[in-house]
Amino acid sequence: MAIMILSDDEKRVLDGAEGEARAHAMDLIVRYGKALGADRLVDTNSVCGGFVGALPGRRDVIPENIRGDMEAVYSLLNLDSDKKLSIPPVKAMTYRLIDAMDPDKWQVQRVSEQTREISQSVGEFCSQIGVNRCNTCTPYQVGVVPVFGEHCAWMESSAVIYINSVIGARSNVEGAHSAAAAALTGKTPYWGYHTPEGRRGTHHVRIEKVPETMLDWGLLGYWIGEKVQDRVPVLTGIDHPGNPNFYKHFGAAAASAGGVEMYHIVGQTPEAPTAEMAFSGRALEGELLYGPAQREEAFSYFSTATETKVDFVKIGCPHASLEQVRQVATLLDGKKLHAETDLWVFTPRQIKAIADRQGYTETIENAGAHLMSDSCAALSKVYPAGVRVAATDSAKQAHYMPAILKFQTWLGTTEQCVDAAITGEWRGGLS
Ligand code: F3S
Repeated sequence: MAIMILSDDEKRVLDGAEGEARAHAMDLIVRYGKALGADRLVDTNSVCGGFVGALPGRRDVIPENIRGDMEAVYSLLNLDSDKKLSIPPVKAMTYRLIDAMDPDKWQVQRVSEQTREISQSVGEFCSQIGVNRCNTCTPYQVGVVPVFGEHCAWMESSAVIYINSVIGARSNVEGAHSAAAAALTGKTPYWGYHTPEGRRGTHHVRIEKVPETMLDWGLLGYWIGEKVQDRVPVLTGIDHPGNPNFYKHFGAAAASAGGVEMYHIVGQTPEAPTAEMAFSGRALEGELLYGPAQREEAFSYFSTATETKVDFVKIGCPHASLEQVRQVATLLDGKKLHAETDLWVFTPRQIKAIADRQGYTETIENAGAHLMSDSCAALSKVYPAGVRVAATDSAKQAHYMPAILKFQTWLGTTEQCVDAAITGEWRGGLS
């Protein structure tokens, strides 16, 4: 195990000068860092995590005897302490990821009264200790935007790969414990993607079939994730900038298929003005080519559904941007959903507020669909009754829905998904 050098201030906190909970959190961070080979900690003022349990809506992970005591639950599930600690306000600016439900739609989401009560208690406790309830997997879409080079401690793989690669901030994918400990101490171990070495490219991916749509970017991300697993791909051959939605879907797919936490697109992303700079002398571990055949191969990973009658369409994984919400509203304008098909669109609450004002929400809901916030079909496990066959425009969601929710799942473009919601039939495919 590595030797870690602590500053005087870090030692003081570890010795209990700021109370038992911060000392416990510092101890957790130090042990975690040592196990990973870090020789020091680094300051962070940007933490995103799952608080009072990593998984929203999983009241089963909270022991019965402490369910009503949020400090005890936080101590156990976020700080790994059987002893109830007195939890002080967080030190770092800290944001909560997905919640168990949308408080405005919990009945539509078929959330139980008990889960609703727990969700409310958790939310109130978060506010009490200063955790900002963003309740989205895309904090970077709603103003939580680190600057280039900023050290962060974020959970949520799709968000980490975005801030590492598109913004040039620095974070590993944290867990519920390490994020909570970072929130209380303002420290995170200096290792992995915090270091310049950890960010260098390992695999060269030559792109011959340049992605043009969100679906294409998702397929490319998924294919690369399958091939490079948790390494750092460097893409060449893309000579025009993507956009935030494309990068969001690309990264989410790469992270869910293989655990990619950082990528470079030469000429596009901030640490890759040239291929040489993206690799910075790191030994090449593999070379890949992505052309039309590889795109077909990527699509074949998702070709497992057999029934074409679609019960449920989910859009907004990662949470939809305002542009995506507007697109869905435009596609639904003046239309009605099929009587036996539901369409739920998930977006951050802040974006929904603008969608409300713009009239997008009304258009979507007039068609019989729902615009929801704070939650996620797969992670919050909220979905309509009786779903057997689903459709989505997200490779990440198409990865999760069969695995977590056991739905046959079609993957297609947003247009194909909205068409399925209106006709009740899957008529999509790769064009
Ligand atoms: Fe977000 Fe859920 Fe997808 S948390 S990234 S919408 S699986």
